[in-house]
Amino acid sequence: MTSVPSASVVSRSLHGNVLVVSIDHPPVNALSVDVRRGLVEAIDAAENDAAVAAVLIVGAGRNFIAGADIREFGKPPLPPLLPMVCNRIENCTKPVVAAIHGAALGGGLELALAAHYRIAVRGAKLGLPEVQLGLLPGAGGTQRAPRLIGAAGALDLMLSGRHARAEEARSLGLVDRLGATDDILGEGLAYARELLAAKAGVRPTRAAVAGLADADANRAAVAAARKDTPARTRGLFSPMKIVDAVDAALTLPFDEGLALERKLFLECLDSPQRAGLIHAFFAEREVVKAPETQSASARPIARVGIVGGGTMGAGIAVAVLDAGLPVTMIERDDAALARGRAHIERVYDGLVAKGRMKPEAKDAALARFAGSTAYDALANVDLVIEAVFEDMAVKKAVFAELDRVCRPGAILATNTSYLDIDDIASGTSRPADVIGLHFFSPANVMKLLEIVVPSRVAADVVATSFAFAKQLRKVPVRAGVCDGFIGNRLLAVYRTAADYLLEDGASPYQIDRAMRAFGYPMGPYQVVDLAGGDIGWAARKRRAPTRDARMRYVEIADRLCERGWFGQKTGRGFYRYEQGARVGTPDPEVEAIIESERLRAGIAPRSFTDDEIVRRLMCAVINEAANVVREGIALRPLDVDVALIYGYGFPRYRGGPMKYADMLGLPNVLAELERLSEEDAFFWKPSPLIVELVQRGADFASMNGTAS
Ligand code: 3HC
Ligand code: NAI
Repeated sequence: MTSVPSASVVSRSLHGNVLVVSIDHPPVNALSVDVRRGLVEAIDAAENDAAVAAVLIVGAGRNFIAGADIREFGKPPLPPLLPMVCNRIENCTKPVVAAIHGAALGGGLELALAAHYRIAVRGAKLGLPEVQLGLLPGAGGTQRAPRLIGAAGALDLMLSGRHARAEEARSLGLVDRLGATDDILGEGLAYARELLAAKAGVRPTRAAVAGLADADANRAAVAAARKDTPARTRGLFSPMKIVDAVDAALTLPFDEGLALERKLFLECLDSPQRAGLIHAFFAEREVVKAPETQSASARPIARVGIVGGGTMGAGIAVAVLDAGLPVTMIERDDAALARGRAHIERVYDGLVAKGRMKPEAKDAALARFAGSTAYDALANVDLVIEAVFEDMAVKKAVFAELDRVCRPGAILATNTSYLDIDDIASGTSRPADVIGLHFFSPANVMKLLEIVVPSRVAADVVATSFAFAKQLRKVPVRAGVCDGFIGNRLLAVYRTAADYLLEDGASPYQIDRAMRAFGYPMGPYQVVDLAGGDIGWAARKRRAPTRDARMRYVEIADRLCERGWFGQKTGRGFYRYEQGARVGTPDPEVEAIIESERLRAGIAPRSFTDDEIVRRLMCAVINEAANVVREGIALRPLDVDVALIYGYGFPRYRGGPMKYADMLGLPNVLAELERLSEEDAFFWKPSPLIVELVQRGADFASMNGTAS
């Protein structure tokens, strides 16, 4: 074996007559400019070296190649561009083999598709996930994949962005061979030598016909995608471009198809959705790096206690059981405990009925569950999560019991939505062990976990909470203590701004429609009806004594609650739900109530465009979010973005409210707030942070400390 010097991220070594080209660019071998240069040099070198009969491309570390270097997007492109690198590989006059382990995603898979032969080992993940970043495969993937595996398979991969395992990739025809062992270099070399021995020559994928053979099926797949995709990918820009590109693969010569792919790729690259989605990609990797996770080590969590078996307690229990941990639940009495257990079983039965869980897995999960009405059962747990009624006296009584029975070093967490966790902590003899773990309903489904950090908590308790979130596969966001923390505090202003619009003349149905068109899965009043109007009603009553007199208060929702119209569960709310229907219909009686409330408040209704509705609700959220950042409740703007995307249905493709604000331009946001302040100087008072950023010519991104 002789080694040839080259760029440090791409090394070349001759193994007999096979040139091994190894990409070593941690963390994930992304195809940044140095890698692209190194690859072209390597292919040139192989062509010019008579001792080389074939080329083998491998990735060093855990992956083949994770794709294009996402950090380069939005910056001026540096040659050689990836499509050109792929073409260079395909045009090599000596056979090129790609040996795939770990991730071969996006541009990584496209590069492999441009090679002449592909082998993958077990555990490899192959995919074209560009759609999740607002893009399409832009290095020949839309043209080469259909030629290999047909339009249906290619569209499925590109429109879902899912990863296919090595075995599936083999059966689809994306790879030619499955390696028998995990030794990627050994397997790749053996395959390359076998090909040379069989005198297998170059085999450019551009000339492949297997995938194009069934023209009718391909045409049907494209037609079906054209029909279904808009509804399935509501509001997204790149999916239909993917369909257009695959269509071109079937109808145009290869080079023309490539040119169209490039044009469509650039359109996607320029789209605000690409900027929003890539921001979300980096932001969700950044949130887990809270300072305490760097400064302290996590305590081990092997046993978990949960107090309260209602909606949240049961949901949290499922989330913890699903992570493979044992759970002990405490309830007030046997009947409540039985309800809690039944709730958990119902969740699992639902999964079994849908075929998403095997009955044995349900039994195994329930075998880890124990219930008790005596707190002593929690003597040995490492973490307790309290999820009893939202009432300070009840919570304090529970924490006094936990303080009494739990072992030293056990973490005592509350799932409170609004209550002061410093107050809860100070009622115990161990405030350093008390933290907020704020789950969202349904707790076994929703990804967000707000980690609410009271003033006296120990750093390793915070670090443990982040590690626990990872065990549960949740997305943790660090929040400070205030009324509603990050998410519910922003939800409150969002709802208030919507209520102002309602009283001023918009209908709940128009507001919901406008916010759905903006990208939320549901409008604010649909959410109220789903969660139960009584919850917000209770919170409003609780806040009434301390509400600032300058705050305008809209009573419309109270009128509905007084009638017992709490939403879906009572059959009526802002909408009517006929016989348990989950989708409501507009209710003229609600409109009449709104009308009479306007009269009572002396308001002459006016009309609002959908655009005005979106602008007002977003300005309210952005402004309060700026206060949340300014007060240190959120560490950075990106923490707000992740919380709203994962807990509140904020459209991911807009990157979260802070990214959206930056895209609108903070001076424009400030100008709008100033205009609105003329109507209501208290509610719309511009956040001092926005004022300061605008004065400095800065944006929220400048406070994130990240590339996006
Ligand atoms: N470019 C730049 N950085 C990347 C990257 C990429 N394509 N993929 C991952 N990274 C970075 C992450 O930001 C993270 O950085 P950090 O340590 O500073 O936070 C680091 O690599 C490790 O990433 P993960 O934490 O996600 O590591 P995992 O081991 O959990 O997952 C992975 C690895 C499955 C490869 C996952 O990172 C992933 O899915 N990456 C993105 C894959 C992708 O979307 N590829 C398509 C890119 S677009 C493209 O190729 C366009 C082409 O068609 C022209
Ligand atoms: P819930 O009313 O459905 O359940 C509360 C449960 O606690 C009941 O089963 C009750 O029997 C039990 N309980 C009451 N006192 C107890 C005690 N002293 N000891 C043991 N068990 C006791 O309420 P839900 O909705 O589950 O809420 C629980 C907590 O989670 C509240 O603090 C709430 O604010 C918070 N939360 C609720 C969310 C939601 O969407 N429902 C979302 C996030 C947090």
